Amino acid sequence: AENIGIRAIEVYFPSRYVDQVELEQHDGVSAGKYTIGLGQSKMAFCDDREDISSVCLTVVQSFMEKYNVSYSDIGRLEVGTETIIDKSKSTKTVLMKLFEESGNFNVEGIDTTNACYGGTSALFNACQWMDSSAWDGRLALVVAGDIAVYASGNARPSGGCGVVCMLVAPDAPLALEFPLRGTFMENTYDFYKPNMSSEFPTVDGPLSVTSYVRALDNAYLAYIDALEKRAAESAASLDSVDYLVFHSPYTKQPRCPQFADVQQFKDIAREDSYTNKVLEKAFINVSKQAFAAKTKPSLLAASNIGNMYTGSVFFGLASLLTEVSSADLQGKRIALFSYGSGCAASMYSFRVRGNTEEIAKALDLKARLDSRTKISPVEFEQIMALREKTHNALEYEPQSDVSKLFPGTFYLQKIDSMWRRAYGRT
Ligand code: ACO
Repeated sequence: AENIGIRAIEVYFPSRYVDQVELEQHDGVSAGKYTIGLGQSKMAFCDDREDISSVCLTVVQSFMEKYNVSYSDIGRLEVGTETIIDKSKSTKTVLMKLFEESGNFNVEGIDTTNACYGGTSALFNACQWMDSSAWDGRLALVVAGDIAVYASGNARPSGGCGVVCMLVAPDAPLALEFPLRGTFMENTYDFYKPNMSSEFPTVDGPLSVTSYVRALDNAYLAYIDALEKRAAESAASLDSVDYLVFHSPYTKQPRCPQFADVQQFKDIAREDSYTNKVLEKAFINVSKQAFAAKTKPSLLAASNIGNMYTGSVFFGLASLLTEVSSADLQGKRIALFSYGSGCAASMYSFRVRGNTEEIAKALDLKARLDSRTKISPVEFEQIMALREKTHNALEYEPQSDVSKLFPGTFYLQKIDSMWRRAYGRT
């Protein structure tokens, strides 16, 4: 198959959000800490009616209806998520419920997990299947997303929730540039989820930030090396890339300070550069223009929804297709940087070679973001407390009002005495 890549995208995020200015006031932190310091304006969240299975069911069914794709045309379905409600049963198998009516049970692919990186691994798997002799000619779906919640405290405003469903197909308008990749993986304890009885991660915030920058630096250099060696692009640099979409835990993080050429810091050791605040400010300053042109259009969803872990980088892509016209994107290279704590990171790229307008129209991202309802920080905290209390509950029937959900949303009806979950749809 030729030009394998992303042919269509649908996203789902919850109908309610908390405003970050109001959250600053409510939390008693200095004005600007979440909005300027983290660069966040709104944060999406769910009540006890939604879990990782329900949000994935919602996005897949919505994708199939919008793009009029048949379940019998799908030969592979991959899920990238780190929101785990079962140590054995995958989210993929729950999604197979949607395939029942079509009679198509011949669907490869399963869940992939490592913090925010699983979606990228799932996408690579789907594209590589299509590029291999194992491919049977059918299409692939890649689902990536999470419910990102933190314990109350300084990490809580960096939560969020969102999932994406992407169709991987030949002749795609976003063609994956196959050999052009740079990966960096190492053993770090920056963000992890060892406590099986809690929905919250264990986080070393400062280490996660440094680890992100280290991984970015290394994956970027490996990607540039691939451009030079495998695409024979001599003197490859940031100029070789038209758009740069980042995993965005909060929009301050991807200000790409690494790529500037600031001579005064040339003697600083590479390792020290990851934590040097003076250097960071200087780099942000000189890369302002590049940031505005190459990255800012991809941050629409991240600043309005918050972190979506595995979904984040793809919401960045969806934002870019929303903010930049199909005509302007033609022939351009879009690089993605995916970071998952622990850590696993890759930089890779797509070449735009077809109309992206239909995707932007189907996403309808701005109107959908604007159609949400604002909830007060007090109610947000009550809902977070309810999620915490009912996490892992047995024989549980959520009481939260399903009319608060967007139409077409799957919701949890009950968990029975054997932890089996039943879902309905609004
Ligand atoms: N006005 C403007 N800026 C402010 C204000 C204010 N009133 N107050 C603080 N700030 C700035 C700080 O100067 C800092 O900016 P800087 O990094 O440029 O110095 C920024 O806001 C954050 O404030 P801090 O006090 O440094 O950080 P805090 O202790 O609140 O925690 C953190 C921030 C670590 C990101 C926390 O939210 C966290 O742990 N989040 C989860 C982990 C995470 O998202 N890591 C990112 C990569 S891994 C992943 O994707 C999960």
